[in-house]
Amino acid sequence: MNIEVFGPQHVDGLGAFAAEMGPGELAVIKEDIGDPDARAKWAADGRHCRWVALDRGEVVGFGALIPLAGWSSHVGEIRVVTRPSHRRRGLGTAMAGHLLGRAIVGGLAKVTVEVVAGDAGTLGLFEQMGFRPEAQLADHIRDRNGRSRDLVLLAHDVEQVRASLDSTSAADSLYH
Ligand SMILES: CC(C)(COP(=O)(O)OP(=O)(O)OC[C@H]1O[C@@H](n2cnc3c(N)ncnc32)[C@H](O)[C@@H]1OP(=O)(O)O)[C@@H](O)C(=O)NCCC(=O)NCCS
Repeated sequence: MNIEVFGPQHVDGLGAFAAEMGPGELAVIKEDIGDPDARAKWAADGRHCRWVALDRGEVVGFGALIPLAGWSSHVGEIRVVTRPSHRRRGLGTAMAGHLLGRAIVGGLAKVTVEVVAGDAGTLGLFEQMGFRPEAQLADHIRDRNGRSRDLVLLAHDVEQVRASLDSTSAADSLYH
């Protein structure tokens, strides 16, 4: 498995991945990976803030690290989706770890992720990685079927991770 910056060569593969997901799940992910126009736009995005995981050439994971603007320009928001056929094998954790690494290298201080309230498995994944819930926002998600859900905002203090890396030789392998 390898992780690459999302580009034009991955647009159709990500579409095939989206087609494997049920409409219920596609309705509640923030990145509309089922929309061909959105995929084409991301492929042309010069910020290079989206990545795919490939298994023998097949797109099996997708992740984004979206830098926020203005007074939150020290914060990045991550989004991770893995192909249903490849779940519970550590891929979601690997994608999220990749995005955290990019955030550290990119100088961000804080990384957030938004999870649908009640999705214990996904909340557990991010909490195992050091994210902590900071807020629950009522009816903050309206999915593509018009149904409202609460949203849990989790955050990771990546500045602290960078500070501890800076004091070790691990920083050399991460930064170079
Ligand atoms: C959340 C998601 C990315 C997890 O992907 P994954 O490839 O299955 O993740 P991992 O295999 O790394 O899971 C790591 C751990 O998280 C927990 N976990 C993940 N999904 C779980 C589930 N459905 N039920 C219970 N625990 C779960 C488990 O502890 C798991 O470890 P285990 O398999 O050894 O028990 C995937 O389910 C997905 O794409 N969901 C839809 C999009 C989404 O909600 N993204 C998150 C917000 S952006």
